[in-house]
Amino acid sequence: MRFYIKTYGCQMNERDSDSAAALLQSEGHVPADSEESADLVILNTCSVRDQAERKAIGKLGIMKRLKKEKPDMIFGIMGCMAQSRGAELLQAIPHLDFSLGTDQIHRLPEIVDSILARRGKILADERTGADTPGIDMHRADPDGGHGFSAFVSIMRGCSRFCSYCIVPYTRGLERSRDAASVEAEVRALADRGVREIMLLGQNVAAFGLDNRAPAQDDVSPFADLLERLNGINGLKRIRFTSPHPAYFNKKLIEAVTGLDKVCKSVHLPLQSGSDRILRKMNRPYTAQEYLEIVRALRAGAPEITFSTDVIVGFPTETEEEFEQTREVMARTGFDNAYIFKYSPRKGTRSAQWEDDVPVEEKERRNQVLLADLERDVRKRNAALVGRTFEVLAEGPSKRNPDRWQGRTDTFKNVVFTPAPGSAVTPGDFLNVRIVRSTAMTLYGELV
Ligand code: SAH
Ligand code: SF4
Ligand code: F3S
Repeated sequence: MRFYIKTYGCQMNERDSDSAAALLQSEGHVPADSEESADLVILNTCSVRDQAERKAIGKLGIMKRLKKEKPDMIFGIMGCMAQSRGAELLQAIPHLDFSLGTDQIHRLPEIVDSILARRGKILADERTGADTPGIDMHRADPDGGHGFSAFVSIMRGCSRFCSYCIVPYTRGLERSRDAASVEAEVRALADRGVREIMLLGQNVAAFGLDNRAPAQDDVSPFADLLERLNGINGLKRIRFTSPHPAYFNKKLIEAVTGLDKVCKSVHLPLQSGSDRILRKMNRPYTAQEYLEIVRALRAGAPEITFSTDVIVGFPTETEEEFEQTREVMARTGFDNAYIFKYSPRKGTRSAQWEDDVPVEEKERRNQVLLADLERDVRKRNAALVGRTFEVLAEGPSKRNPDRWQGRTDTFKNVVFTPAPGSAVTPGDFLNVRIVRSTAMTLYGELV
């Protein structure tokens, strides 16, 4: 069959779509360019916010038309919404053939076969306490697209149960891979030419602790993993997402600042700058402790940059508490921030509390933070004009194909023009001198 997978949600979902595609290809199915040209269409869904679910529901509706035109087409969902609402959706949506939960990806080829044979609906939402066997070794076309860069999933699930969050319910509790198998996978990727890896997990810094609390200062299995991977020949950059601040003990701070291949750019989800709201969110750190981690990382690596996630309009959040979030953001100085308007998720603790901040007020707080951020980044980027950075070339710029786009170690987006006739290849490391900057981008010349 020709298959098409449409992915919503986070990088973990993208990685899962890759695995699903690799599994289908290993059974002789081939990728299609679009939904219209496919015989098998899969939506990989996200539940994290109301808007994410609404997007998938909208798409489910559109698929009805397509299936009417091509009644033999197979149509399924996978991912977080399939895990939490698969049964209900299969029942409500006549043109939906299967729903594949987050621990059941390995069953995809078999499910497709049995639908082909019997044409009955299939729900697969069992939880395997352990990791899905072998799933992380399946990769779709490692040299296609960004062949120099790869996602590596090192753990599945999350056991933190932040009061607003559905992830522990859709992905299950934490299950880490074995460090040796991660190392072997990264070594194999590096041998194939991969220069940059992104280590993935919903609570990535809890790697190896599986459901245990953050450990004391000199224990961090995640830091140990970073050290192992730092020694791999050919690999140049190690990134990771998302770490929870509670796991940034002395050992991890030293690993991030001290290991040369670990990129000096950390996504550190703040969520709120108010200690009362953080407690209500079940995020076990204070604003002061968060700022102390930032300070320690900067002390060890002065160029380090930060990005974050923030929720505005959490139940009972006052204007003053929102101002505390602004304050912590200003004091940290983020390069990027994903700001989310709170939405209650069924089954989570906070869904029992009244969603009492009006939607217009959430929108206002959202806009205030975005405006602060833009001003702040613009100023800090302007200070980089004249400096030279090593840039990993990613590919021609989307806006202007004569120019190229790449990233610094600190994850700054750099646009530059290769010399006429010079051959730049994605994955090249080049020195670029910055001549101009905006809030989003640094513009430079090859040195
Ligand atoms: N595991 C990651 C976050 C995954 S979800 C971490 O802890 O860093 C991505 C972001 O979505 C969260 O950081 C949070 O800011 C936001 N989010 C999660 N649940 C939400 C909800 N119910 N309403 C609004 N935003 C939410
Ligand atoms: Fe959700 Fe919290 Fe786990 Fe992140 S750490 S996935 S926000 S429960
Ligand atoms: Fe969404 Fe699931 Fe990722 S809820 S953010 S796809 S873990």
